[in-house]
This record gives sequence, C-alpha cells and structure tokens, in this order.
Amino acid sequence: MQIGKYFIYTYGCQMNVHESEKIAGILKKRGYESAEKPEDADIIVYNTCCIRESAEQRAMGNIGNAKPLKKKNPNLIVAVCGCMPQQKNVESMLKKKFPFINIIFGANNVEYFGEYLDLYLQQRKYRSFILEDQNYQAGNEKIDIIRDNMLSAYVNITYGCNNFCTYCIVPYVRGREISRPKEDIIQEVKNLIEIGKYKVITLLGQNVNSYGNDFKDKSVTFPKLLEEIANLDGDFEIRFMSSHPKDFSDELIDVIARNKKVSRAVHLPIQSGSNKILKLMNRNYTREKYLAIVEKLRAKIPDITLSTDIIVGFPNETEEDFNETVSLVKEVKFTNAFIFMYSKRKGTLAEKMPNQVPIDIKRQRIHNLLEIQKQITNDYFDNLIGKVQKRVLIEEEKATQFIGKTDCGKVVKLKKNDKTSVGDFVDVLIIDYSGGNLYGEVE
Ligand code: 5AD
Ligand code: SF4
Repeated sequence: MQIGKYFIYTYGCQMNVHESEKIAGILKKRGYESAEKPEDADIIVYNTCCIRESAEQRAMGNIGNAKPLKKKNPNLIVAVCGCMPQQKNVESMLKKKFPFINIIFGANNVEYFGEYLDLYLQQRKYRSFILEDQNYQAGNEKIDIIRDNMLSAYVNITYGCNNFCTYCIVPYVRGREISRPKEDIIQEVKNLIEIGKYKVITLLGQNVNSYGNDFKDKSVTFPKLLEEIANLDGDFEIRFMSSHPKDFSDELIDVIARNKKVSRAVHLPIQSGSNKILKLMNRNYTREKYLAIVEKLRAKIPDITLSTDIIVGFPNETEEDFNETVSLVKEVKFTNAFIFMYSKRKGTLAEKMPNQVPIDIKRQRIHNLLEIQKQITNDYFDNLIGKVQKRVLIEEEKATQFIGKTDCGKVVKLKKNDKTSVGDFVDVLIIDYSGGNLYGEVE
C-alpha cells in the first residue's frame, strides 16, 4: 500500500549517493513511493555534504525552498541528514534557520532513519538524532537498498577515516575507520551479480587501501579482498574509490594487473605537487613517491588511466608551489582531474594556519589549472581517434544511438546496431570527439 511519496536531495560524494539509496530502501519498506519532484512529496530528505563551503550553501539554499511547500502541505515531513549536521553546533543552527525541519540525523546513523521516522509519525514532534559516538552505526533492520543506477552498484567496504588530512572535515563528521566484515562484502557482491543486471561493482571507502587495518586477522587486506571478488563468476567490472597514495602497495598493482575484471581506471588523489604543501596537508607521501606509483602502474598495466583530486590555494601555497602542481599535472597527464579551491573547514588544523591564500589568487590558480587540464584531455581524445577502446559499457539506448562509457568514464555516442544492447561491454572504434563526448562504432 502506498502511503505517500518521497523526494531525496543528495549532495556530495558516492558515499552519500549510496546512503541515499539506503534511505530510499527504508522509505519504500514503509510504503512510500518515489516522487518525480519535491512538490509531489509527503517527505523530503536533504542528505547533505560539508566537504567545502559551497556544498553547504547549495544544501541550505534548497532546504529554504521547502518553506513554501510546507505552507501548502502542513503534513509534509522535512528531514535533514548527512555530514552537515554532524558538525559541532550545526544541528541547532539549522533548526533555528529552518524551524520547519522535523527530523535531523547524522551520516553515521542513516541506517536508523526508519526508527526515527516511526517515532516522528507517532509523536509529530521535532527530534534530532546526532550521536555522541561519531563512528558508523550498523542498523537493526534489514534494508533493501534501492539502487539509483540500473547497471552499476556501490558496495561499502570501510566507513570513516583515520587520516586527518589537515584541510579535511571528513574524519570529524564520519568518525574512525571501520572495515566491514569480508564475508558481508563478498555476500553482497555475490547477490548483486546473481541479480544479473549489475555490470559494475564499485567498492566504497574514504581510503580503500587501509581496508582491514582494524582487523585482528592481518591476512585480510584490500588487495586480497579485491582479488577474491575478481575471482567470482560473472561478467562484471570492479572499481574502487578512493585510494590514498600513502598505502597504494605493489601487491595492489599486481592484483589489478593480473585480474582483468578490475577496472583499468584508477582514481588516485594527489592534492598538490609540492612536497612542502603535501607535508602541511599531512598526506604522508611525497611527489616522488606518487610519481613512482604512477610509473609502476604504467609499466605493469599499459592500458591504465589515472584520475585525481587537486586542491589549489591551500594555506602557504606560493606561486612556486602551485607551479609544482602544474608540472606534475603536465607530467602525469590525468584523463580526469577534479580541481577544487581550498575551503576553510571549522575545527580542522588548516583552518588555523597562517598565510591563507586570497580568494582572487585561488580563482586565478583554479582557472589556470583547469585550462591546462582541458588541453591534456583534448590531447587524450585526439590520440584515441582511429583506435579501439576496449570494454565500453552501453548504458542507454536512444532513438538512433547508444550511449556508452569508457572505463575512465568518458561518454561515447555510438551508431545503433541489432547485435548490441544496454548492459553489454563492447569494443568501440573511436571516430571523433566534440564537446567532451567521443563518437564511435561498435567493432
Ligand atoms: N577544500 C577543498 N577541497 C577539499 N577536499 C577535501 N576537503 C577540502 C577542502 N577543505 C577535496 C579533496 C578530496 C575531495 C573529495 O575533496 O581533493 O580528495
Ligand atoms: Fe579527507 Fe584525507 Fe580522509 Fe580523504 S583521506 S576523507 S581527504 S582526511
């Protein structure tokens, strides 16, 4: 029986996207159906992110939009969750600014949302559920995750983070790193493969490489987990994110190299090309160590592609430091670089550092680096023309075209044919590119 409709706003990373899939599962179990737009909903959930100030502002703007909807429908339930209210004093600020909010809970107790909602429906009284203990809390009920993507599925392997990069709020809002039992992960992946429609399994953690560090049994490591999953039967691809260069081991490189089911696209955040800045960021690796990993990856896996995250304008970043990042970007030639301006986060060590970089310099640096990356991506595309891209996943069928994605996430538009269908991996001859898209023909 349908008792109402839900609409979920999701901000931030894959972890949040996946947690919204859990929220959808909890709501479905209670008889709610998905609404096409917030205006049609009986419950709106804002799953927020606080990694940068801009993410918080975006969420706050949209929460504000619920006010007129609540006026029209006084029974509308407004819930705010995720990383934002998990920060100190933010829950009270949110409630003050948006008195119409009914439920607030954190990123670590998302699995308890059903119980919070049941309680609200009984009492119709505002409650917030921000726990003292910031570590991830596995819930009491079985959740049938409602996955957004028809072909690709996220699977948690670790929660939280122990790294305390000095710019980052994540360790403060998501607590300490907890690895999920290996048996649970393998079972979930097996179930997904058995369903038959999932072609890409993405293993999620803030730093997947430290999977198992908190286990007594030291034989359970990320490379071993990855290989065990790769050995499962079925035609699927495995991805993982994110990796921290400080513990990207030779063993992991060998596991990727010898297991064809593991994606050849590796996301390896560098953050800065300057050793001085990497040290201030508490990243625990040097530019040289990063470049050595890249070299080994390329030597052992010739078809590897690399993507990265970069922060410009970290405190004390001089023009020379920035130029070191530029030279690293030019040297590595990433297929994708996600470039951010440093954003001050309350309570982090970098917030208190002297020599914060003025906003106009940050803007100039991000602009320069984006232009350089654009050229690198264009050169990459140029080089693909006339060559065959292996294992392009067909994701969508249009009137005259298939829309596919390469291993490293580039969109390929293909002429339709009778032999191919959505969910197939195909080899594609690249003919052209424009506007960030590739064009090709199925081989
Ligand atoms: N300011 C800017 N970017 C940040 N990131 C994390 N914290 C901040 C911050 N305070 C970026 C990092 C990370 C990505 C997920 O977000 O590059 O890898
Ligand atoms: Fe943040 Fe660093 Fe942890 Fe990534 S590894 S979540 S950047 S603290």
